[in-house]
Amino acid sequence: MATYKVGGRLLPVEDVVLNLDNIVVGGVQTVRHTAAMGLYTLVQRPDLWRKLQQGEVSMDSAVDELLRWTSVGLHTLRTATRDIELGGRRIRRGDRVAVWVWSANRDPEAFERPEEILLDRSPNKHLALGLGAHYCIGAPLAKAELSALYTAALEKTVRIEPTGPVEHNHSIINFGLDRFPVRLVSR
Ligand code: HEM
Repeated sequence: MATYKVGGRLLPVEDVVLNLDNIVVGGVQTVRHTAAMGLYTLVQRPDLWRKLQQGEVSMDSAVDELLRWTSVGLHTLRTATRDIELGGRRIRRGDRVAVWVWSANRDPEAFERPEEILLDRSPNKHLALGLGAHYCIGAPLAKAELSALYTAALEKTVRIEPTGPVEHNHSIINFGLDRFPVRLVSR
């Protein structure tokens, strides 16, 4: 990135630093919250846990469905570069448009039975990792991390038991858990 040229010129150092900051920050809260929210979901639904443990659904599709279900990156924002009509609404150049990811990921026009967690959902065109030119650059890493964590948590020798109530965070950027007390019980 430090040697990447835009219009024949090197990126200013501020832009390089901002981009690097974006990569670091983009991967911290998001993965942490998806990991905790996904585990919280599975702990509450032993039937789903069992399906995963018995290999009835693939970890890849389960990770995607848990990404859709948890939708921790609550919104993305764009500034319109031209006047356009979208979904019956007139958007003017310069208007700010927010996509509420949680809501889009439960859109009944896009998903069958959106209020159900279907670990083998297919197709699953969720927006949890964005879409288009700014699609999450860390998506493969995030999926690998989540898959490794859930696989380890599904170890048959250990059961995860909640030991108290969860505490949700207060943020319109990344939705998640500030506290999720559990203990590991050997089977
Ligand atoms: C479960 C974990 C993650 C979630 C839910 C998530 C979510 C998202 C979303 C929704 C976007 C699109 C933002 C937009 O369109 O404005 C995005 C972009 C981005 N993500 Fe992630 N992300 C995750 C993990 C990561 C990781 C692990 C990294 C870095 C290692 C990362 C770095 C980035 C960066 C740099 C962008 C901006 C890409 C661009 O503008 O071209 N993310 N992410």
